[in-house]
Amino acid sequence: MKLGIRKSILSGIQPSGIPTLGNYTVVKNWVGFQENFECLFMIADLHSITVQQEAIKIRENSLNLLALLIACGIDPNRASIFFQSHVSDHCSLSWILSCVTSIGELFRMTQFKEKSENKINVNAGLFTYPVLMAADILLYKTNFVPVGKDQKQHLELTRDLANRFNRRYGNTFIVPEPYIFESSGKIMSLQNPSKKMSKSDKNENSFISLLDSKDKISKKIKKSVTDSENCVCHGTNKDGIENLMNIYSSLTKKSLKEVEEEFYGKEYGVFKRLLTDVIVAEFEPIQKKFNEILDDKIYLEKVYKEGAYNAKQISKKTLDEVCEKIGFVGRCD
Ligand code: TRP
Repeated sequence: MKLGIRKSILSGIQPSGIPTLGNYTVVKNWVGFQENFECLFMIADLHSITVQQEAIKIRENSLNLLALLIACGIDPNRASIFFQSHVSDHCSLSWILSCVTSIGELFRMTQFKEKSENKINVNAGLFTYPVLMAADILLYKTNFVPVGKDQKQHLELTRDLANRFNRRYGNTFIVPEPYIFESSGKIMSLQNPSKKMSKSDKNENSFISLLDSKDKISKKIKKSVTDSENCVCHGTNKDGIENLMNIYSSLTKKSLKEVEEEFYGKEYGVFKRLLTDVIVAEFEPIQKKFNEILDDKIYLEKVYKEGAYNAKQISKKTLDEVCEKIGFVGRCD
């Protein structure tokens, strides 16, 4: 992989469960990036242990996620897909960056405030999480980072740290730009449309998983909250139906206006049935491919080994440069 010719993009996803329909729309964007960017897609297993999980689950989720990313269209010949824990440079750079980060900055992170609110397992990793994320990004001299709203503040911090390091030690890091999507069709919870659809939601009916059966998808869509108006359209207090319209629009590539027209005068039941069909039609081939890939452990291993190898080629260079600027004696390896 040659950097420097095309701009680079890096993104990460945590192996904290089977991705949802919401994650799928994000991964779909990743697939598109492969055309025009050097792509690094990382399975953020180090980040995922800020929440305590069983070892067996982490391993299963990680391999499932890798197979799913490939099934969704991430092509290991065009992008590097790797596990964050396989490239130890992330931890090294994270430590170094933590020494240019003030604790005040970390206390201001809204995600930390939210996650520490319930006072359960407020570990130091949860606090320094954004520094590790900055290391993920800066290690690869990443130009663009596609981020959702919930990660924007972390990217801002990454930019601040890059600038600070560059000022203090001389120009080293590229200051990454957020990659903003033209359509912000964010997928919300089916049970509470003011919340993002999340795979860690306790209520199973609030999200559709990429591996849900046809039956399950149908039940969840049926149970999704709407309103009593029976009008597939925009309006006040129509977050539920608007969310379903967003899902339909993002999978069919129809505009929201076209969706409104298509279902003009039709009942929610009709819309929900068609929406279910669309989701099932999209997911079925992915599920088939997923099962095939997951069965081929040798192939999976080859993909993540090559991904880590490619990633290390870049990360080592950056870390050496950083260590040199700081004044560490050169590494022998
Ligand atoms: N924190 C991100 C999330 O939970 C995942 C992530 C880790 C990431 N490192 C990253 C995303 C680097 C983008 C770039 O969604």
